Amino acid sequence: MYFLLFLVAGLLANSLGDESDGGKAPRFPLNDGHSIPAMGLGTFLGFDENGQKESKNNEVENSVTWALDAGYRLIDTAAAYRNEDQVGQALKKSAVPREHIFIVTKLASNEKRDVVGSLRKSLERLNQTYVDLYLIHNPVSFTPDEKAFEVIDYLDTWKGMEEAKTLGLARSIGISNFNTSQMERLMEHCSIKPSVLQVEVNLNLAQNKLLEYCKQHNMVVMAYTPFGSLFERDDDAPLPRVNDPTLVGIADKYKKTTPQVVLKYLAQRGLVPIPKSVHKNRIEQNIDIFDFTLTDGEMQTLSKFNKDYRVVHPSFWQEHPYYPFERVDTPKPDPFKGIKE
Ligand SMILES: NC(=O)c1ccc[n+]([C@@H]2O[C@H](COP(=O)([O-])OP(=O)(O)OC[C@H]3O[C@@H](n4cnc5c(N)ncnc54)[C@H](OP(=O)(O)O)[C@@H]3O)[C@@H](O)[C@H]2O)c1
Ligand SMILES: *[C@@H]1O[C@H](CO)[C@@H](O)[C@H](O)[C@H]1NC(C)=O
Ligand SMILES: *[C@@H]1O[C@H](CO)[C@@H](O)[C@H](O)[C@H]1NC(C)=O
Repeated sequence: MYFLLFLVAGLLANSLGDESDGGKAPRFPLNDGHSIPAMGLGTFLGFDENGQKESKNNEVENSVTWALDAGYRLIDTAAAYRNEDQVGQALKKSAVPREHIFIVTKLASNEKRDVVGSLRKSLERLNQTYVDLYLIHNPVSFTPDEKAFEVIDYLDTWKGMEEAKTLGLARSIGISNFNTSQMERLMEHCSIKPSVLQVEVNLNLAQNKLLEYCKQHNMVVMAYTPFGSLFERDDDAPLPRVNDPTLVGIADKYKKTTPQVVLKYLAQRGLVPIPKSVHKNRIEQNIDIFDFTLTDGEMQTLSKFNKDYRVVHPSFWQEHPYYPFERVDTPKPDPFKGIKE
C-alpha cells in the first residue's frame, strides 16, 4: 500500500520533473545541492558613443516581465549593469513565485573591498532578501572610484563570497571570466568550491579546455554572448552570420530560426545560454528550443565554426596582473570610459 503510494508520488514527481518551476527550460543540478534553469535572460544593454547604455523607458523591467511570462526562470544581471532596480520591479510585479525564479547578480570589480556589503546593496536594489547565484564578475579589480587598477587577490574576494553563502544572502556562489590557471589556484585554496563559471561561449568560441575543466570539477557553465558574431558585430569577425546557408538548412529542417539553432547547440553541450533581448518576440523565440534535438552530425557541423575568437575581449584591462585573456599588441580603447581617465 505504502509502496504504491511512493510509486505514484515518484511517478508524479518525475512527470512534473523539470516543469516544477513552471518554466520552459529543464534544470541542471549544482554541486551544492541547488539547481539552475538551463537557460536565462541576459540584461546587459551594451555601449553606445556615450559609453555604457542606460535602461530607458523601463526597457529592462519590460524584458524581464516578458521573459517570466514566456517561461524564463533565470535572470542574469550585475551591479555593473546598473539595472538591478529594474529587475527588482519586474520581480515584484510578477505572478511567478519567487522560489521558482533564479536570480543571478555579480560583484562589481570596484566593490571588492567588502563583498557582503556589496551584495547587500545589490539585494536592496533588487528588493530581495537573497539571490540564487552571486558571481565575481571579473578577476580584475579597480579602486572604488574606478579611476585606477587595484590588485585585490581573488582568493581574498572568494572568502567574502563564501561568507555571503554562509549568511544565506546567496544560495550559490561562482565566478565569471576566470581562466583555467586562476580556477586551479582558487580550487587549491577555497573552502567552498564555486558552483558556476560564466564565460563567453558561442559558435566562434568553443572553450573546449575550460569546459572540460569545469566538468571535472562539477561546475555548470553559463554561456554569455551566446550569439557571438551572428548579428551586427565587426565586419572582420568570423562567420557565421544569421543568414548562413548551413545554419538556415538546419533551422528549416526543424522549422526553427537560426538563433534558435545556435542556442540549441549550446544547450546540447550542457551549457546555460543567457541570450539578451529587449524585444518581446525575440525573448519568446529564444527560449522556444526545448522541443527538438540536433543530431550528432549537426552538432559536429556546428562545432566546426570554432575559431577561438572572443567578442568580449577587454584588452584595455590587459595591464592588470589578473587579466584573464590573451594580451594583444594594440589594446582597444575603454568603452566604460572610467578606468585610468
Ligand atoms: N559575465 C560577463 O562578463 C558578461 C559579459 C557579457 C555578457 N554577459 C551576460 O550575457 C548576456 C548575453 O550576452 P550579450 O548581450 O553580450 O550578447 P547576445 O545575447 O549574444 O546577443 C545580444 C544581441 O542579439 C540580439 N538578439 C537577441 N535575440 C535575437 C533574435 N532572436 N533575433 C535577432 N537578434 C536577436 C539582441 O538585440 P535586441 O536586444 O535588440 O533584441 C542583441 O543585440 C548579457 O546580456 C549579460 O547578461 C556577461
Ligand atoms: C522591498 O521594497 C519595499 C518598498 O517598496 C520595502 O518596504 C521592502 O522592505 C523591500 N524588501 C526588501 C527585501 O528589500
Ligand atoms: C590566466 O590569468 C593569469 C592572471 O591571473 C595570466 O597570468 C595568464 O596569462 C592567463 N592565462 C591565459 C592562458 O591567458
